[in-house]
Amino acid sequence: MEKIIVEGGNKLKGEVNISLAKNSVLPIIVASILSPNDVVIKNAPMLEDVIVLNDLLLEMDCSIETINNRDLKINTSNLKETSMNSDLIRKMRASFLIMGPMLSRFGKCKISMPGGCNIGSRPIDLHLKGFKLLGADIEIGHGFVEAKAKKLKGNRIYLDFPSVGATENILMASVLAEGTTIIENAAEEPEIWDLANFLNSMGAKIHGAGVGKITIEGVDSLKGIEYKPIYDRVEAGTFMVAAAITKSKITINGAIEDHLRPTIEKLKECGVKFESLGEDTILVDGTGEKSPVDIKTLPYPGFPTDMQAQMMALLSICKGSSIITETVFENRFMHVAELVRMGANIKIDGRTAIIEGVDSLTGCDVKATDLRAGAAMILAGLVAHGRTEISDLYHIDRGYVDIEEKFRGLGANIYRVDK
Ligand code: UD1
Repeated sequence: MEKIIVEGGNKLKGEVNISLAKNSVLPIIVASILSPNDVVIKNAPMLEDVIVLNDLLLEMDCSIETINNRDLKINTSNLKETSMNSDLIRKMRASFLIMGPMLSRFGKCKISMPGGCNIGSRPIDLHLKGFKLLGADIEIGHGFVEAKAKKLKGNRIYLDFPSVGATENILMASVLAEGTTIIENAAEEPEIWDLANFLNSMGAKIHGAGVGKITIEGVDSLKGIEYKPIYDRVEAGTFMVAAAITKSKITINGAIEDHLRPTIEKLKECGVKFESLGEDTILVDGTGEKSPVDIKTLPYPGFPTDMQAQMMALLSICKGSSIITETVFENRFMHVAELVRMGANIKIDGRTAIIEGVDSLTGCDVKATDLRAGAAMILAGLVAHGRTEISDLYHIDRGYVDIEEKFRGLGANIYRVDK
């Protein structure tokens, strides 16, 4: 079994280069289904979730080529399969995003129903509500969901909650639909803007992506393009917290300040200083004393749920009481038990965690209970006394490229073993 070992205590220094955003690249890969022409995704992060999605497209007779080990060239012209019962779909929830583009291109799509996952039940009702309003008939049974429509027709779709996945799926379904679609209470995450920008570069007509009300005028076809997605704001945020927790000063290349605003503002409140060193480069000075802060996770531009676990690791050693309220997912506190194993003093009351800062953490065996929880374990390990051994690394590998190498480049004592 592979483990990441972190020997705590080292200060960090130097620079780290952030990869492109996993949560942009995944929908962009499936959006390439909307065009029969070549799509090249520049500098795609080759992390486990991207590999799973590529494997799924390969199973469906698409061609995928990696150019220079960094660019992904996708051609979906041979794609024909509209019924998918692949283990790969069950392996990754984001693969449900394939439904919107498949329905749009083939007028039908049957796919195994995504299950819950360890951070919550994660229903798909909002995705299906959108498809229905675009004119699709939906059937659910025997573990499958099937959508059919002769021709999708634009409509006005109000989302009860600004779901990222539902917004993306409906957006992809509607770009080739007849007429105009309006998505209200749409998610505003930067990755939504990125997907729309990608589709617009292919010839789609999307306005308002990233501001809550998206208008899509259907077009007949989309052309192939080369596209470089945005940088990963969660990876950048994770390294910002790393500077804070180790009381270090580091430079982060590939940090888009606007996208990181909720994380930066919370870290500033905590005592961390930031200096912009030019386009997408930020110096993070975490050397000062930290104060406890309260956090409520919310859809963007609120504080991201994907940074909640990492912030909890930091707050667990900030003198005083902090409160974190998780409003986006119903079960995203599994890292609490792991942090408590390391000596943190955290109590959970429903969706609220009350953190009493302790003087220090101690290394021990812990699990990466989900992707960002795994990152939180690494962060805690960086300051813990002694050795932290992290298992269940597949969660971490889903979303971070070369994470040990990047931390080692900053001076951390961290390595992977197979034992
Ligand atoms: C995406 C991100 C994930 C991030 C999350 C919230 C990707 C690949 N993943 O996940 O990293 O943590 O946004 O920022 O981009 N919901 C419903 N019905 C639906 C869909 C969602 O009730 O049909 C609920 C979910 O159960 C959850 C909340 O909405 O409680 C947010 O989910 P959503 O925004 O859809 O997250 P994902 O797109 O799955």
